[in-house]
Amino acid sequence: MNFSTGHYIPELTPLYGSREFESLSLDKRHKFFFEYIKLVAEGLVLFEQLLAFGIWHFRKNAKFLDEEVLASLSQFALEEHYHSQGFRHFLYVHDVFDWKNNKIYADSSRLKKLFAFVIKKAPTCVFLPGAKLEAFSVCYYKMIKKYYTAEEMNSWVHLNYIHQIDEAFHIPLEFDLHNSVISNAGPVKTIIGSISFILLLQIALIQGSYKVISNVFPEYSFPKRIFWMIKMARWSVRTSSAYKEARQIVRQQFNSKNPKWGKVLSFIYW
Ligand SMILES: [Fe+2]
Ligand SMILES: [Fe+2]
Repeated sequence: MNFSTGHYIPELTPLYGSREFESLSLDKRHKFFFEYIKLVAEGLVLFEQLLAFGIWHFRKNAKFLDEEVLASLSQFALEEHYHSQGFRHFLYVHDVFDWKNNKIYADSSRLKKLFAFVIKKAPTCVFLPGAKLEAFSVCYYKMIKKYYTAEEMNSWVHLNYIHQIDEAFHIPLEFDLHNSVISNAGPVKTIIGSISFILLLQIALIQGSYKVISNVFPEYSFPKRIFWMIKMARWSVRTSSAYKEARQIVRQQFNSKNPKWGKVLSFIYW
């Protein structure tokens, strides 16, 4: 499907409408547009792998899980595995990303080790932060759907369309799983794990933004890259409608699903 260098949607490019954005040449805007798509795709691959890893660890050590919970966990992990394969394939086959030579998270073993350390200690910490990322997938699709009106228009919108169908089911499922397992898994462990997980997400956002900025503007000095990195990270979590709406969805789920220890864990939708 058509997804080549000539393709470009200004509104889906970070910092669109800002003074910084206006100062960029068209070439740079194109590059920025594609690097942000790469960041979203790689971010989803990373977190789907972490979710699957958390479920696998939880199942390995958990005792007395009822059949329904076990079946949900297996189905869930399998779906995340297929999603991450889909996004990896997307990046791999489109030369415009130069993914074989230039990755965002795929090579950052230190970040993955940190996440893995937290998840091994408290595998159930992946559920509620996971719901936030899944809400982001749903809202990201809504955001790009404004500009790609048909699912067949290109492989990016098609992939996100298929993905959000599963994710819309996963969001409430994560809350149900959380409620079913937190007492057995240990609430304190899960809460500390969730705090650590969310903190690592902030590090991932900063690292990913820095990588995007370095890829788009290799000629910038270190302080200038940091300045743009901060602008971009803020745009990703404060300006883009996908993230704003995702926070809203998670807040609504907290209200309707009333998760155990929900008051302590409400920082997840901040
Ligand atoms: Fe997924
Ligand atoms: Fe999911």
